[in-house]
Amino acid sequence: MNSINTVPTPDNLYWPPRKSITSVQIKHKSVITQWSDNQHSTFHPIWLRDNCCCEKCLNFITREHLLDLRDIPLDIRPESVNIDEQGALVVTWSGDGHISRYNPSWLFAHSTDKNAENSVEKLLWDASDFSEPPSFKTVDGLINEELLYKALQTTLRFGMVRLRGLTTDKSLVEKFALRVGPIRETHFDRIFDVISKANSDTLANTSHYLAAHTDIPTRESPPGIQILHCRIAEAKGGHSTLTDGFKIAKDIEKEFPHHYETLIKTKWCYANRAGPTDYRWEAPTIGLDDQDEPFEVRLLPFSRAPLKARYEDMDDIYAALRCFMEKANSTQYQIKFPFKAGDLIMFDNRRILHGRGEFYPKTGDRALRGTYVERDDMMSKIREYEQKLLKESKE
Ligand SMILES: [Fe+2]
Ligand SMILES: [Zn+2]
Repeated sequence: MNSINTVPTPDNLYWPPRKSITSVQIKHKSVITQWSDNQHSTFHPIWLRDNCCCEKCLNFITREHLLDLRDIPLDIRPESVNIDEQGALVVTWSGDGHISRYNPSWLFAHSTDKNAENSVEKLLWDASDFSEPPSFKTVDGLINEELLYKALQTTLRFGMVRLRGLTTDKSLVEKFALRVGPIRETHFDRIFDVISKANSDTLANTSHYLAAHTDIPTRESPPGIQILHCRIAEAKGGHSTLTDGFKIAKDIEKEFPHHYETLIKTKWCYANRAGPTDYRWEAPTIGLDDQDEPFEVRLLPFSRAPLKARYEDMDDIYAALRCFMEKANSTQYQIKFPFKAGDLIMFDNRRILHGRGEFYPKTGDRALRGTYVERDDMMSKIREYEQKLLKESKE
């Protein structure tokens, strides 16, 4: 094993040796490293001191800071720097002469002046890219760790995935969800059933068409990932639909900038009005992150509360929402596919809109089971698996 692996890092992760430090110098108060590929990084002294991972500064079990930021002098400077025999950067600090050591692989990965490294890219799509969700066929209905990872990564990239050839067991969807993260409970059932029986007089669930929507925008944070398992699909009709809301957002930004401005600014309220609970939340249809990129879409046409806006703005606001809804349900953007028994679909409920075609309850039974987990549970699971792969590759 490369000795660099023994240089501690502030986390419990394995940082594979990629770059080494060829030279280091102090310039004013900062530390400048030259890497084996001739790149340079400049480190701020407070940042370096803050990330010291000696046993005085870091709890090695919990990996929590022991050093209080307020105890770092604002004028702290590196007194001397060198590279030790293991390749670690060693900094001796002014004042108390404290010594810090940094693992170069960790340091390079965290240097803030390099280009961001290959995180999974979100790929936006429309109906010319897919006719069905990207799918994986299971062997004997088993989902091993590798397949689970691929499915999660696909959900991260395209917002959706389908697993096929699963059993139609009632417990499957919950067991699967729990492998991704804790179930995100809502004011509906923890695991929900969508059932229609061919010979029942009272239909618990209606069979009509459901326009493209996201679930539960009545909440401050709608559920991140929806998982739906088809157990019985004997009734005719009832195709599932999926639409990439982020792709629509980007296209509206280009084609109808005026509508886009309205969609990112105007808050719509979604409310569950049947009681006894009274959840409601107001937010724009397209939510942007701090880079002005979409991080969520919210649209549940059947639970939309009355618009609160000035009379003179209403034409624009309604036109913008209709533009979004028309795209979300159009053949250009929406994919439509049969949901077969033994299929499971998983999608980002804050990016992808889903819906259903009308089906004919008299022609057969239909049973779906679903639940939710959160986006950050999925992210954690993806990172956990990637870390496992990295650790295996070092052995
Ligand atoms: Fe739904
Ligand atoms: Zn320390």
